[in-house]
Amino acid sequence: MTILLLGSGGREHALAWKMLQSSHCSKLFVAPGNAGTASIATNVAINPNDFTAVKNLVLTEKIEMVVVGPEDPLVNGVFDFFKNDADLKGIPVIGPSKQGAQLEGSKEFAKEFLVRHNIPTAAYDSFTKDTVEKGCEFLTTLQPPYVLKADGLAAGKGVLILNDLAEAQQELRNMLVDAKFGDASSKVVIEEFLDGIELSCFVLTDGKNYKILPTAKDYKRIGEGDTGLNTGGMGAVSPVPFADAVLMEKIEERIVKPTVLGLQKDNIEYKGFVFIGLINVKGEPIVIEYNVRMGDPETEVVMPRIQSDLVALFQAVANQTLDQVALEIDPRSATTIMVVSGGYPEDYEKGKVISGLDKVEGSIAFHAGTALKDGQVVSNGGRVIAVTSYGNDFKEAIAKSYENIGKITFDNMYYRKDIGFDL
Ligand code: AMP
Ligand code: GLY
Repeated sequence: MTILLLGSGGREHALAWKMLQSSHCSKLFVAPGNAGTASIATNVAINPNDFTAVKNLVLTEKIEMVVVGPEDPLVNGVFDFFKNDADLKGIPVIGPSKQGAQLEGSKEFAKEFLVRHNIPTAAYDSFTKDTVEKGCEFLTTLQPPYVLKADGLAAGKGVLILNDLAEAQQELRNMLVDAKFGDASSKVVIEEFLDGIELSCFVLTDGKNYKILPTAKDYKRIGEGDTGLNTGGMGAVSPVPFADAVLMEKIEERIVKPTVLGLQKDNIEYKGFVFIGLINVKGEPIVIEYNVRMGDPETEVVMPRIQSDLVALFQAVANQTLDQVALEIDPRSATTIMVVSGGYPEDYEKGKVISGLDKVEGSIAFHAGTALKDGQVVSNGGRVIAVTSYGNDFKEAIAKSYENIGKITFDNMYYRKDIGFDL
């Protein structure tokens, strides 16, 4: 079948790479894609949030399935757009409905869902401009550090963790009164701080049945030793070594099952990925967030470990027959190291010629922010290339990625040299 994938990052290159291994995928379009997807599929320069343009493409190219990479088209209702359009309604969209996407689109919606379905999560309360003083008071009842979360989508920047009470109260005012994160912070969730180690659990659901995909751990900070500013992610490891059978059993029973059941009880249509951000607090998994898509760079380690046919899994999602297909996982470890533009996550330059990609051997170079210019691959974003490798353990896989990164060069490139340091 002919498939359209929406998005343009490393996640999309990895999803495209995996879908193209399927005998069910005869043609793949990626909108807008990057230089990596252009080398294996057909890029189309349209904005995934321009649903009219997406519709025209789908009808012109007789596309039979749409897979959504990033969250914003989902939060903007691409699933519902297809469902409610006479010409598009038979075409499956892999991703949740607009209501389901609120699990990521609104922190308050997610917290209410978690509490309603008895899923372990940090204690919280939420505040608006009108209740800002109550929020400041609420902060005095908590122990530091203080966790403030903008309710809406803020491109991964909407969470502040502060040690000082006065500073936390000031930031709360900045978010609510001075719209620090625009509309996204017109409501703020204040949450109990959880002390533990993070991991992510990825689930594919058809709304009734689910499959738990490989776990992954992401390295969010720009600097070594997890220091400096937050980024989209600087590297990832799968599986997570400390996610043993005992922890996974708790995650499945206490979190995954009630999440899928909760979607059904609440009549929320959901056919897609659920990315559950967890903190392991002394062996007890607690939810810190839901995302309604795969992670980036986590996809670059999760997809390589899925041995089953991804398109067949997507077809089962669309038909709600996920219970009838098997999910085979590669027992090896996979790691990815993100090579970024110097300056990221603050200001950086684009358009740098990337060389050495053809010398990469025994690893996969997934393109994140790249473009083609005059026949050359150039940088086109903060995160540029994710180098993924397999190994018998994560250390072996990481060593392979570093070996291959040594062959890649572009002006002012940077990467963390300590991915996996804490495992
Ligand atoms: P989120 O966007 O909710 O994933 O938050 C961004 C980051 O903030 C997470 O990856 C965690 O590192 C951290 N974080 C979020 N919530 C908490 C919490 N309740 N306790 C401790 N750290 C948190
Ligand atoms: N790497 C974190 C995310 O995709 O949200």
